[in-house]
Parts: sequence; structure tokens; C-alpha cells
Amino acid sequence: MRSMIPDYLAEALGDVASDASGETAGYIPELATADPDRLGAAFAMVDGEVYGAGDIDTSFTIQSISKPFVHALALADRGFDSVLAKVGVEPSGEAFNEISLEGGTGRPLNPMINAGAITVHSLAGAEDLRPAERVERVTDGLSSFAGRRLEMDEAVHASEMEHAHRNLAIAYMLGSHGVLTGDVRAVVDGYVRQCSLLVTARDLAVMAATLANRGVNPLTGERVVPERVVRQVLSVMYSCGMYDAAGDWATQVGIPAKSGVAGGLIGALPGQIGIATFSPRLDRHGNSVRGVSLFERFSSDMGLHVMEVPAAARAALRANDVLGSGPDALRVLQLQGGIRFAGAERVVREVVETAHLDVRVALDLTRVHSMDDVARRVLLEAVRRLTLDGHEVYLVDPEAVMPDPDPGDGGRVTVVADVDQLVHAPGQVTGPGSRPQ
Ligand code: DON
Repeated sequence: MRSMIPDYLAEALGDVASDASGETAGYIPELATADPDRLGAAFAMVDGEVYGAGDIDTSFTIQSISKPFVHALALADRGFDSVLAKVGVEPSGEAFNEISLEGGTGRPLNPMINAGAITVHSLAGAEDLRPAERVERVTDGLSSFAGRRLEMDEAVHASEMEHAHRNLAIAYMLGSHGVLTGDVRAVVDGYVRQCSLLVTARDLAVMAATLANRGVNPLTGERVVPERVVRQVLSVMYSCGMYDAAGDWATQVGIPAKSGVAGGLIGALPGQIGIATFSPRLDRHGNSVRGVSLFERFSSDMGLHVMEVPAAARAALRANDVLGSGPDALRVLQLQGGIRFAGAERVVREVVETAHLDVRVALDLTRVHSMDDVARRVLLEAVRRLTLDGHEVYLVDPEAVMPDPDPGDGGRVTVVADVDQLVHAPGQVTGPGSRPQ
């Protein structure tokens, strides 16, 4: 069988192909002459599988799509406090190149508008780097996100620098507030070089998938930035990534995203997928017209909106049965799926309501594939309280999904690989068994 995913992508491209509305970015002469008909889309799954259709290996400059990745590098290199002291995280509701700074402090509102991104460029790498070394740090970091060495388009850089009056004006204002220090022109030059790195839609999908994969590049296995940094960056992409269209995007598409004026557009859906599209004609916000259409379609066809509410947490509890009878009776609470706080709470409630009926209580994790730290702590505290109430408690955990099952002070738990090890008359269900809905 052939996978249907490339066919789906090709069909989606076919549906938007005839839309010739919008204009290529006129303010950078080298971009104005780009072939406006190029069209491509790529999906990179968090395990590194990449699907694509159309022009996914055509190079173009990354432009503003560099902003979230350099923000990630700055957070990793300088820490949250240093970055937040200079750049906020509030949506501006304004155009990407608006000359807008927070009243009083002169802090740019967020790292996605140019004022914030120029500042963030100055925060990548160690404080004492020379401008060329900072560009090197940025190039290295973005290459790690892409999983291959990225090159710079010198012609686009030169072309943009010739017309960089607005970014220079922003930078001088940042300088006047002390947000930028030193040679502000060199910072703008470095920022424009950052924007001039060449990528393909395939690269961008992998870069987005690295964010979706908690900061680990799914192709190379390299941890590019810490998990905590990824959460911050995705949050800012969600609220600010599409500039003055961010609210429409958050409600209609619902994927943390970032656009660039060369026609690229990325989306990163945590834990699932990195998506990239390439189509150079832009709308009035500076976002790719056909890219936006494709993302709207991908989101609705595949249920990718991050606010799509997942199946109810009660599904964490698969069954509550009593095996055997008399003093040997064993109450077995069977858990399933991925357990997080709400799932653990559901299990605890069931324990509170029914476990007092039997001395021997088992939590069966055989069908659990993952458990986060909060769920682990909540369940271990339930084990501890059951022990203190006089119960014998067991964990059936053949795959060791609960690491270090130590219930702490006064708690005791016996871990076994199979529930049959605990049942004196295996298979015999006598209980007031129940299957929670
Ligand atoms: O700062 C600029 O003007 C560009 N080099 C990048 C702008 C950009 O890509 C805006 N995004 N849609």
C-alpha cells in the first residue's frame, strides 16, 4: 500500500493552486522578483518521517520564521530573566514592522515583531560576542533545528540592507532606551543576515517538528534547546506569531505558527507534527496567502487545532473489578492510555469511593503507555494513604511506566509484572465489578 498522506498534500496544493491573489514582498527588491507561482507543503512527524508535495526542495530566505528559533537560542543562552528584561511576551496587534515599544521601559512588546526580534538577535550567544560571531551562533543554532548546515543568501541580505531604514529606525529607538547597546547598525545587519538564511519547506517542517518534539531534532536526535524553552517559544508563536492576524489565526487554525515575507509559513503542533508551506504571494499582514489557506484546511481536515478538547479524562480508568473473594479478594483498578493530572484525579476518586471495601488493592498499569510526573506523584500519594489506612497495595507494571515507585513516608507498594501473580483463584471475577464510562 502507498501512504495516502503525500496524495492528500498534493490534492490540497491542487485546490489552492489557482489563487493568485496577494503580492510578493515589494520592500526587498530581491524578494519582489521571486517566482510567485512556487507552491509546496511538507509535514515532518515527531519521529522524523517527512512527507511533501510540490516545491519542498526549493530554497528561499527564512525571513521572520527565524524569529522564534533565535528567541529559543537567546532563552537557552541567556536565561529567561535576561531575555524577559528586554523583550515582553504580549501580543501587539500591530504590523510586524511597527515602531512600537512599551511605554516607559522602551521594551519591545514581543519577540515576533521586528523591534523584539532585533533585540532578541542581540541576545543570542554570550554577551561579549562580536557581531560576526553572533551571526555564527545564530547560523549554527538554526542549522541544528534544521538538521543540516544552512547557507546565507548574500544578495537578499545586501538588498534588504539597502532599504533597511525602518529596521534601523527601530534599532536606534531601542538604542535610545538602552534596550540595545553598542553598535546598533551591526545588530540590524546581524538580524538581516539571520533573515537571509536559505531554507526549504522540508527544512522548515523539520525545524517546526523539533519544536513539536520538545526541542529534540527528530532527524539527528540532537537536543537543540531545553524543553522549558520550547514551551515559552510555542506560547509566543501562538499569541503573536501571525502579528495583527494572530487572533483570527488562533481561533480558526489554532496551531502555533510563524510566517516569513519570502513566502514560508510554519506550524508546530506539540507532540504531533511540524508543518511548512511555501508560496511567495503575501496578504496585507505579510503572511503567505496560499499558505494561510493550506493551514486552514490542514487544521480542519485533521483536527489539528490545539484547543480541540481531547477525549474525557475518565477514559484513564478502564475497569474496576474485584478478583477472588473473602480476605484474599483483590480490587483491581485498571488504568489505560496516557495518564496526566485529570486522569490521575479520576483514579483517585474511584479509589476513595471503592477501595475501602477490600484490603488488597492493585493499580494495574499494563495498558498505560505514559504517565507524567504530576500523575505519578498523585498516584503514589494515593498508594501511601491506602497503606496508612491498612491496605496492601500492588502495582501491576510490566513495562515500568511508573519510574521509581516509592510512595514515601509510611507508604508501601509491591510491584508485579502480571495481575495473575496476585490472584489466588486467577480469572475469577466475583466482585461488584464495574466498568467506568
Ligand atoms: O525585518 C524584515 O523586514 C524582514 N527581514 C523579515 C520580515 C518578515 O518576514 C515578516 N513576516 N512575515
